[in-house]
Amino acid sequence: MTIKMVQTTVKWWQKAVIYQIYPKSFKDTNADGIGDLRGIIEKLDYLQKLGVDAVWLCPINSSPMCDNGYDISDYYTIEPSFGTNEDMYELIEEAKKRNIKIIMDLVVNHCSDQHAWFQKALKDPEGKYGQYFYFRKGIDGKLPNNWRSIFGGSVWEKVEGTDYYYLHIFTKQQPDLNWENPSLREEVYKIINFWLEKGIGGFRLDAITYLKKEPGLPSFEADAKDGMVSAMYGSLNRPGIHAFLQEMKDKTYGRYDAFTVGEVAGAEGEEALPFISLENGFFSSIFDISHVQLDTVGPNYFWCSHRTWDANELREALYEAQMAIQPQGWYANSIETHDAPRSIDYYLPQEGRNYYGASMLAMLYFYLRGTPFIYQGQEIGMRNFPFASIEEYDDCSSKNQYAFSLEQGYSEEEALHFVHLRSRDNTRYPISWDASEKAGFTDGKPWLPIHPNHTSLNVAVQENDPYSLLSFYKKLIAIKKEARYETVWAEGEFVPVLKEYPMLVAYERRTKEQRFTILCNYQNEPCTILMKDKEPDLLLNNYNTLQKDGNKWQLQPYQALLFDGEV
Ligand code: GLC
Ligand code: CA
Repeated sequence: MTIKMVQTTVKWWQKAVIYQIYPKSFKDTNADGIGDLRGIIEKLDYLQKLGVDAVWLCPINSSPMCDNGYDISDYYTIEPSFGTNEDMYELIEEAKKRNIKIIMDLVVNHCSDQHAWFQKALKDPEGKYGQYFYFRKGIDGKLPNNWRSIFGGSVWEKVEGTDYYYLHIFTKQQPDLNWENPSLREEVYKIINFWLEKGIGGFRLDAITYLKKEPGLPSFEADAKDGMVSAMYGSLNRPGIHAFLQEMKDKTYGRYDAFTVGEVAGAEGEEALPFISLENGFFSSIFDISHVQLDTVGPNYFWCSHRTWDANELREALYEAQMAIQPQGWYANSIETHDAPRSIDYYLPQEGRNYYGASMLAMLYFYLRGTPFIYQGQEIGMRNFPFASIEEYDDCSSKNQYAFSLEQGYSEEEALHFVHLRSRDNTRYPISWDASEKAGFTDGKPWLPIHPNHTSLNVAVQENDPYSLLSFYKKLIAIKKEARYETVWAEGEFVPVLKEYPMLVAYERRTKEQRFTILCNYQNEPCTILMKDKEPDLLLNNYNTLQKDGNKWQLQPYQALLFDGEV
């Protein structure tokens, strides 16, 4: 059966490859140990050579950095440790010269408790600025409700010297903004338009399905021993959120040729469609997160609720997600972000954590229907960080999850093990640019340590090696952007194939005229498949050879192949 694909004019971002930068760890130019905007400007040539069309910067606005920039205290200025507004304008210009667009992180579910709005609100919770937030009085000396924040503990924080509490779905330094208030919404639109007018290419919308809260903020039945319930029940993708998102789009980026990608939790499968319909979605795209929690049980994603999984499960999750939003929707596809561990450590078993496994993974997600994202360092195969104790971590969620595991009765060793597997610092430590002492990241003391493996695993080594992972990524990108293949990537249908072979992730991308096949042998064993008589053109192979015996092909462990044609 062939699905009728929605025909809209192809947008620039349907052909794009996007690179995610965690500015604090990208490149430091003034030896304070913290990456900065001038560092990004310095590395633009690197990004251009890689072949990316846009760069998503994790938050760079002024922030006390309690959640590394996801707590913004002034939306109109650049965080001083990252640089100045002038640096940002220069970055936008310099990137433009290289045909690279800059995408900002828009964090408007909450701001920082240091933001002027919140400081004024604290002085007068019933006043104008109090209405920008959620202030509630306790009930019979108890908290206003039993919601547990995403980072642990209650969502309510007491305002000293008053009867009031304020709501924070994330850390207590991140008070939630009250989107019910039209004045607040207008303030947010002003901010968005300010940056669009500066020439940015779009936004990644942080925690965007949390904007609408269940009316009355009621308690729900507890879902863990702590007597609390995840704040998700009362704040994630609640009825009424669509109206907020439509208004935001109409008054801001909907008027530009901008790319928007939502961090949309709580709207899977068809529920995701209103967000990403190519004709009139609230956003251009959302991240496919169907596979990022395969290692935890239950709706809360506690790191201690750990489970094992295999490639067949991943394959099911991916196929299902792709099929559910086709033909109208468009995904942002990624295997690494600043919120997740390194992909090699997460997606591959021990025996696959090598060049073959890493390049297979890259091929697997890169040609799915959607826009591929690469997280900084992923292109050279950077790895999780071997921190020795919980004190060495910076990430607030690592500390909270550690404490939660102990509360649940796990030993310190077990709790640390869960943090090793899942910590966000696994992707937040500095990039290894070269083999020098500070990995070419800084001349000062890096804010998080340099990975001990940087002496052998770094950009400089791989740039000169045609068989490195970095070179493989360059090939993937080049093929994605080659004019004669562009249509199949931008408009081709996604069709799962060869499902009868376990541990083989195989799919086609099809238009009426073209048919491409991707084969990924996701295991440490060979996999023999029977081929049709006509042999398709091999475009990319992560091995030097392809073993054939008549019409039998033997794929090697973690071999990945891309064909122009049907298999
Ligand atoms: C998103 C961000 C994450 C941040 C959280 C709160 O999930 O990706 O890094 O901690 O929102 O803003
Ligand atoms: Ca710096």
